[in-house]
Order: sequence, then structure tokens, then C-alpha cells
Amino acid sequence: MSKKIVVIFAHHNFTDSRIQRSLLKGISNLQNVEIRDLYKLYPDYFIDAKKEQSALAASDLIVFQHPINWYSSPAILKEWQDIVLEYGYAYGENGTALKGKDFLQVVSTGGGKDVYQPTGNNRFKIEEFLRPFEATAYLCGIAYHKPFVVHQAYRISDQELEERTKDYVSLLKSYIENGNTALATLNTHIF
Ligand SMILES: Cc1cc2nc3c(=O)[nH]c(=O)nc-3n(C[C@H](O)[C@H](O)[C@H](O)COP(=O)(O)O)c2cc1C
Repeated sequence: MSKKIVVIFAHHNFTDSRIQRSLLKGISNLQNVEIRDLYKLYPDYFIDAKKEQSALAASDLIVFQHPINWYSSPAILKEWQDIVLEYGYAYGENGTALKGKDFLQVVSTGGGKDVYQPTGNNRFKIEEFLRPFEATAYLCGIAYHKPFVVHQAYRISDQELEERTKDYVSLLKSYIENGNTALATLNTHIF
């Protein structure tokens, strides 16, 4: 049976977005993919936990898609986690609602892969900055997969961006058809 995906999207300044706009446009017409644009849905930050939880319930794969802002996610995505991933729902006693689902993070960075190294300006690999998300997934019993990263947001050419967008679209399509075996090959998608 086809798998379902929910994309939790956050960009605080979508008007000026190039990378995330392209990625989002690529997946916008895919069947079985629901996109939840948090800044559009909740401009006042009052997140509706029940609505978000029913969107999660209907999905097999949860995607967090966002630019990296100050080595983490945009603020509303942190708020979303605080409000939606409640005790007794996502973790703790009887908190098994998300157990067995898959998780994928789709991020873009200004810095290149070279600066996300122990010897580079950012000192740590991108995977290390994403550890809180990995730990959250683990606590909730969700399978964490390697992130899909588009580096060098300010330098990537239109053609490269088009290719990364195609990679992203193929990945989600493949997940819908084949489930999480599609995510196993993801390390080839980090640029
Ligand atoms: C407030 C803010 C903080 C940012 N912090 C980082 C950062 O910590 N690391 C990084 O590599 N890029 C950082 N950037 C660059 C963004 O990640 C980059 O502009 C974005 O991924 C490009 O996607 P877009 O074209 O969809 O906006 C930051 C940008 C902004 C506006």
C-alpha cells in the first residue's frame, strides 16, 4: 500500500526564499504528501496541537523541511515540537502515537560542506547540529534517517538547485512506493 508523508515546513521569510521555495514547489503536487506551512498556518504562533497530531497520525513519514537558522531550525518549528509532542502522546506513559513512523529532515545551509567540519568555521558536521532532532525522534520511537542537505545556499547554481530538487522529489516518490528502504541510500544526496 502507498505510504503517506506529512511535511512540516518552516521558513520565516518565504518571500525571499530560493532554495526552500524550489524544494517545496517540487513536492507540492505529489499525491500522498501533505504540506503544513507553519508560518502560514500559525502567524501568531498559536499552534493547534490536535490538528497537528491528526496530520501526524495519517502519515508514515514525518519530514521537517526548513533552512538552518543559527545552527538549528526556525523558531516556530521548536514551538511546534514543544506544543505537539506532548507527554502521553509522543513519549512517556502511553505516549506511543508516533512509534514506528519514519523521520526525515530536509535542510538548507548558507555554509558549504567544507565549513561544516571540525577544521571549518562551523566546527561541527551538520549531523551534529541536528542531534536534538535525532534524540527527539529516538525518544518518540520514530526511525531517524540521514538528513537531506542542500549546502551553499548563496552559491548553488540554478542547474544544481534543479538537480537537488529532482533528487528530493524522487526520494519522496520512492518512499511513497517502497517505504523506508528509499531512505537508506540518502548519504549520496548530501552536497
Ligand atoms: C536568521 C538566519 C540565520 C541563519 N543561520 C545559518 C546558520 O547557522 N548556518 C548556515 O549555514 N546558514 C545560516 N543561514 C543561511 C540560511 O540557512 C540560508 O539562507 C537558507 O538555507 C537559504 O534557503 P532559502 O533560499 O530558502 O532562504 C541563516 C540565515 C538566516 C536568515
